[in-house]
Amino acid sequence: MRENIVAGNWKMNLNAQEANELTKILVNSTQNLGNTPKVILCTPNVFIPQTVSQTQNSAIKVGGQNCSRFDKGAYTGETSASMLKSVGAEYVIIGHSERREYFNESNTQLLGKIKQAQTNNLKVILCCGEPLQERSSGNHIHFVTNQLEDLFNQLNKEEIEKLIVAYEPIWAIGTGETASPEQAQEMHAVIRRLLAKYLGEGGASEISILYGGSVKGNNAKEIFSNPDIDGGLVGGASLNANDFLAIINAF
Ligand code: PGA
Repeated sequence: MRENIVAGNWKMNLNAQEANELTKILVNSTQNLGNTPKVILCTPNVFIPQTVSQTQNSAIKVGGQNCSRFDKGAYTGETSASMLKSVGAEYVIIGHSERREYFNESNTQLLGKIKQAQTNNLKVILCCGEPLQERSSGNHIHFVTNQLEDLFNQLNKEEIEKLIVAYEPIWAIGTGETASPEQAQEMHAVIRRLLAKYLGEGGASEISILYGGSVKGNNAKEIFSNPDIDGGLVGGASLNANDFLAIINAF
């Protein structure tokens, strides 16, 4: 179901106490929010149980930032999708550009992660996005289309239907440089048209497509007001309660 979403991606930040304090403020400040936008906190795995417990009487949902492509077994250091689910996570980010770049995650691996997450009833926030040189050379649409098509071609309709897609141009992540609302809308429309190839127009119109890359309180409204942009995946600004609340309140 297409809905407006603001998801925080804490990445590898905060300690247990800081996570606790941030979550406490967010729970208190979103009490009267209703269901729009849906707020999701994608925390480091070790903070998931405490965040789930803190948010249980609120509308805030909790997710992980990655999961193993394996079911279980001798994979030292990995966390399975079923483990995330068992401590109360409902979402998981898959294919963030930092995972692709620093941990060499290929689409083949990402496919395994998507399947594991969905088998365990976690909702996948699937990331895509081009590096600066692809944008500069005018190849960005082709690049992102290929990135997604490669995965969509290996998923069935029901699996694609369950996805949330996040477009995050790599050059805009953590840099303070945001895609202009026009650049973001253009790519979101491309992604929705691509989804329509697999799901039909009606199916594609039911998918939430989030923008990520230096979303802040002062640019969120302009970005979110575009017809194909259903919310944001927020890194840096999700670590500060006031900054994150400003983005949530941009809807
Ligand atoms: P940023 O990160 O908001 O700090 O640019 C976004 C992300 O990587 O998801």
